[in-house]
Amino acid sequence: RGPAAATTDLAGRHVVVSAGGTREPLDPVRFLGNISSGRQGYAIAAVAAARGAKVTLVAANTELPDPAGVDVVRVGTALELRQAVLGAAATADAVVMSAAVADFRPAAFAAQKIKKVDGVEPAPVELVRNPDVLAEISAERARPGQIVVGFAAETNDALVNGRAKLARKKCDLLVVNEVGEDRAFGSANNEAVVLGADGSETPVPYGPKAALADLLWDLVAARFA
Ligand code: CTP
Ligand code: CA
Repeated sequence: RGPAAATTDLAGRHVVVSAGGTREPLDPVRFLGNISSGRQGYAIAAVAAARGAKVTLVAANTELPDPAGVDVVRVGTALELRQAVLGAAATADAVVMSAAVADFRPAAFAAQKIKKVDGVEPAPVELVRNPDVLAEISAERARPGQIVVGFAAETNDALVNGRAKLARKKCDLLVVNEVGEDRAFGSANNEAVVLGADGSETPVPYGPKAALADLLWDLVAARFA
């Protein structure tokens, strides 16, 4: 599929994309968060809409303009993201989980701002596990033939860790990023390998996040057929 060949190959499809990073509140003014900007997920949503899909974008704490023709649902926490994604996934042909979902949340929320007291050590923050939305969606497959795509940002042994993650999460495709300077988090560019449950391995050369998005939809569209 060349860039010149404008196509609406995703027409008639509903796709759900999650983007951004969840925030897990500690008190009214503080949270545990991560450095995801949401740019890769937004590019994936924008490209799907441009290729004719009906797109639901579940956006966690992003500061990006709504992509044209995309239905944006805003969420804050992992639990809110889970509810929005599971709800939209009920009618989806594909679900792409590019959001950075917090693995843990504080066990308790302090209704009032946590204060420091001179001479008193701070209390440790107790954490509990958040549900794994990607694993849940993969296991449930709200529609027969639904294609599920996960993301993995790895700092080391990206391919080995990625293969293990793909098997554990039971998704169809896993986009594996090696985190680094000028790629993945916060950057306009990305470099990745897309692993398939069928054993396939598709390298994505260093380039704009929209190029990765286009290639990803090629791989998904091939699995629709
Ligand atoms: N994910 C999710 N729900 C979570 C955590 C992660 O749906 N509670 C999804 C992410 O959106 C991503 C994929 O799972 O598509 C992989 O996230 P990652 O953090 O790399 O994987 P984890 O299984 O959480 O492994 P790790 O211990 O390396 O963080
Ligand atoms: Ca994680």
